[in-house]
Amino acid sequence: MTTAVEMLGIRKVFPGVVANDNVNLSVEEGEIHALIGENGAGKSTLMNVLFGLHHPEAGVIKIRGKEVHIRKNADAIALGIGMVHQKFKLVPSFTVAENITLGSEPRHRGIFLDRKAVHDNVMEISRRFGLQISPDARIQDLPVGVQQRVEILKALYRQADILILDEPTAVLTPKETRDLFGVIRSLVANGKTVIFITHKLREVMEISDRVTAMRDGKVVGVTKTTETNPTQLARMMVGRDVLLRVTKTEAQPKDVVLQIRDLHVFDDRNLKAVQGVSFDVRAGEILGIAGVEGNGQRELVEAIVGLRPAWNGEIQVKAQNLTTLNIRQRREVGVSCVPEDRYVRGVALPASIEDNLIVNNYFKPPIAQGPLLKPDVIARHAQELIETFDVRTPSKDVPAYALSGGNLQKVVLARELSAQPDLFIAAQPTRGLDIGSIEFVHRRIVEARDRGAAVLLVSAELEEIMSLSDRIVVLYEGKIMGAIEGARATEEGLGLWMAGITSEGSPEAAGH
Ligand SMILES: Nc1ncnc2c1ncn2[C@@H]1O[C@H](COP(=O)(O)OP(=O)(O)O)[C@@H](O)[C@H]1O
Ligand SMILES: [Mg+2]
Repeated sequence: MTTAVEMLGIRKVFPGVVANDNVNLSVEEGEIHALIGENGAGKSTLMNVLFGLHHPEAGVIKIRGKEVHIRKNADAIALGIGMVHQKFKLVPSFTVAENITLGSEPRHRGIFLDRKAVHDNVMEISRRFGLQISPDARIQDLPVGVQQRVEILKALYRQADILILDEPTAVLTPKETRDLFGVIRSLVANGKTVIFITHKLREVMEISDRVTAMRDGKVVGVTKTTETNPTQLARMMVGRDVLLRVTKTEAQPKDVVLQIRDLHVFDDRNLKAVQGVSFDVRAGEILGIAGVEGNGQRELVEAIVGLRPAWNGEIQVKAQNLTTLNIRQRREVGVSCVPEDRYVRGVALPASIEDNLIVNNYFKPPIAQGPLLKPDVIARHAQELIETFDVRTPSKDVPAYALSGGNLQKVVLARELSAQPDLFIAAQPTRGLDIGSIEFVHRRIVEARDRGAAVLLVSAELEEIMSLSDRIVVLYEGKIMGAIEGARATEEGLGLWMAGITSEGSPEAAGH
């Protein structure tokens, strides 16, 4: 076997941080090599060095056994290296074919673009690797999973045989992820080499041949996938033992806290996103709402917290009708929410962590005494929450935007849970977080349940739904496809409901 890529002693420094510290990476030809590590471990930096986008301070790179000098991106491309970045670099208003050929159009009789040759070539690559696309569609009209296919095609069109995929599944649905894995398998079947960056251990176990793990800019382990397991990989990445599955006792459900009946909600395009949904959540239980994103979950949550009107139906919390109350009044009734998009709804990015922690209760004691805010109380409140929720920050006074995604999510959780809500809604609570933070968030959600809160967990991650929920309902095109006890749910069964297929026998009535 030949070595496709060898990186030796790579060092890359950014102001204040050693992003790559004497890193060695060796990737065999024809293998799927997973590069894993928590956010900030240095994975993208290393791959940007290989792709000629960063210049390392030290180190040697060999491609197919020969030492090379990659001074710029074009050098990497000429060596057959292709990279699909975390943030795609396509031109939204251009067609698929235009994007694929951008910068490398074949010419016909001098200066004219030979559209037919381009089209044929793109279709040939698309067929060979199972990358289905419509060459004339515009990028802006395509779902993310298809845009990603275009990025991969673009690299293949430039004759890449070493492909770097930087966290390709972060933006994909389970179905799109499966499709991508099919593509990756056909790539290696056709002699390509794939470097696959992820921090999802299940994906590592499923798709990779070997794994290199990084932590704090250093390589902390290299292993064959068949000779390791998720627990061991998690320990390498995080540097301590991590509970991959939440330990929780059986739920002790009490009174109904949230009662939804025949709820209908419209989305931003004025289409009906929630169509006649009914369910209950009791104190002391976690109800998981599973489903591929875009099936009404967002609108459902927004209708409960008061960000969006309910067109029809009932929303009651502790037997109080919420539909006529505003957001703050609903909070007063006992509703807290970790919103799906923490950067838009979750935090005020320019405001300090301290201020972010009090935005919901700055107007009442003990934070305020009449019209006066109590700075000492606020400071103590912030300091306590930062400690309890393990927010890694130099101080409570730094602006929220300075925090990493995981720490920002802890700030939101701290604020929402410190209100001791009766109804706690967690929408996609661990999206984009690394496994150390996921473990923390999951523990807090179970704690909220055990304290007696009714928990509504909305997540597109089936694993998360299955490991946390006491009961599960699946939302499909705004309707409940089925409901089942958490302990009896299987991934296959939920997957069918998520695809809109009703299984044999009647699914249990939801929530009654
Ligand atoms: N262009 C850059 N400028 C300054 N610092 C950077 C830059 N790119 C990455 N870093 C820093 O380098 C470290 C490694 O980042 P990165 O390689 O993106 O990690 P990963 O891809 O594993 O999440 C982080 O501390 C990050 O903040
Ligand atoms: Mg990265």
